[in-house]
Amino acid sequence: MSLLTRRRLLRRAALSASAAGAARTGLAGATAAGVAATTALGGCDSPPERRTDPEPDRGLRFPPNFGWGAATSAYQIEGAAKEDGRGESVWDTFSRTPGRTRNGDTGDVAADHYHRYAQDLDLMRDLGLRSYRFSISWPRIQADGSGRPNQRGLDFYRRIVDGLHERGIAPMATLFHWDLPQALQDDGGWENRDTAERFADYADAVFRALGERVPVWLTINEPKTVVQNGYLTGHHAPGHRDPAAAYLVAHHLQLAHGLAVQALRASGVPGRIGPALNLHPCYPADETAEAAAATRLHDGYENRLYLDSVFKGEYPRDVLADLGPDSRMVRGIRDGDLKIISSPVDLLAVQYYTPLYVTGSGDTIQKWPTSEAGWQQIYPEGLYDTLTRVTRDYGRVPITITENGLPCPDAPGPDGTIDDAGRVAFLRDHFAVAHRAIRDGVPLESYHVWSLMDNFEWNEGYEERWGLIYVDYPTQRRVFKRSAHWYRDVIRRNGL
Ligand code: FCB
Repeated sequence: MSLLTRRRLLRRAALSASAAGAARTGLAGATAAGVAATTALGGCDSPPERRTDPEPDRGLRFPPNFGWGAATSAYQIEGAAKEDGRGESVWDTFSRTPGRTRNGDTGDVAADHYHRYAQDLDLMRDLGLRSYRFSISWPRIQADGSGRPNQRGLDFYRRIVDGLHERGIAPMATLFHWDLPQALQDDGGWENRDTAERFADYADAVFRALGERVPVWLTINEPKTVVQNGYLTGHHAPGHRDPAAAYLVAHHLQLAHGLAVQALRASGVPGRIGPALNLHPCYPADETAEAAAATRLHDGYENRLYLDSVFKGEYPRDVLADLGPDSRMVRGIRDGDLKIISSPVDLLAVQYYTPLYVTGSGDTIQKWPTSEAGWQQIYPEGLYDTLTRVTRDYGRVPITITENGLPCPDAPGPDGTIDDAGRVAFLRDHFAVAHRAIRDGVPLESYHVWSLMDNFEWNEGYEERWGLIYVDYPTQRRVFKRSAHWYRDVIRRNGL
């Protein structure tokens, strides 16, 4: 890989929207010079009238049985890091390493959901959720990433799944949300092809234990974020900066996805399954031919690398050519791999946070106001473009939105209420474009807000609050924010 490509990849990863704001790590942020003055579309500093006006009923009704939901992930909420036979994950190692996370925060306690799950399930019921997306912690099921499953770990998720059903909420389980068992990392992690096989074994154990009660499975959460943040910028676990390894990791993550799909089919368990991809609409920053060409390649790395493989059974040629025939990724692709990766799926989970604007030199610039997460430009139209593009380019695969939201500097006011009007405006604008996408033919079946409650935001620790529900960490008290009350009304009337 040329030095230029390497630099471009690092830049791309640093600016890419992903779990955590690379800007804060000091790795180049989008240039302020590129900011175009626009109307505020719903950042946390949205205009005051949005804070006081009641949300009018706009008459936008969603299809009957639309799956209004919220999402979380295991390491971000559970805590109980050493309980009931749980092994260590790469995130335990990473967050306990000085300097890796803001304030040295770890997920050791997080929102203590492992102990408070029953109360949290009641809150979900009070919110009126119809669907709840959570993730299963691999090291709770297999402490070292292989071997006989740990019954106590399985029992915990069984209690979650049963508790959801009792409350009329459909479970949606992600098999991998970044907490790779450390023992597997010690053997090379996702650089080691064998990790994909281990993942399929783990998935098989989970399918057999919980299968008949989980209607929807998601395989790997945002493989791209592991690639970019875990292996390019290094601000996520395992904290590497190794572009050559990064794209081999991309391949193995996708192989793991395909093998898990095959494992579900082989198990005879009836659930539906699909990948969870964070997609970024890429737009040229200007009108030049150079910007158009750079945007096309950028889109390859951001989107087509993960979509073409699953839905077309091939990697995008421009990306492969850019990586080069001697790249570790290209050399790591074996006959039959793409067939496994493109095993038919039942649905696509889309996670949308931000658009990207690409210049002729392959840099990205900022065009819209950002949220508290410096990498997140607020642009609801990008969700519309993403949804319609997927349907246009990849066919009418059912879509679920499994993440969308923003962080706000939420704090209780003097009366104890939390007025996150900016989050209400943000969600309202994104729901409205989702509604338009459905009207225009996108088979969107559900929408999960990130996140149900405040949680451990990876290298940002507890500083960023993404929840509908406020968590007062010292007491672990939960409080519905204004957005939670508002969302409950949206769900009740099935629309805006
Ligand atoms: C996504 C992650 C999720 C959360 C949000 C803000 O990339 O999947 O865990 O961190 O970003």
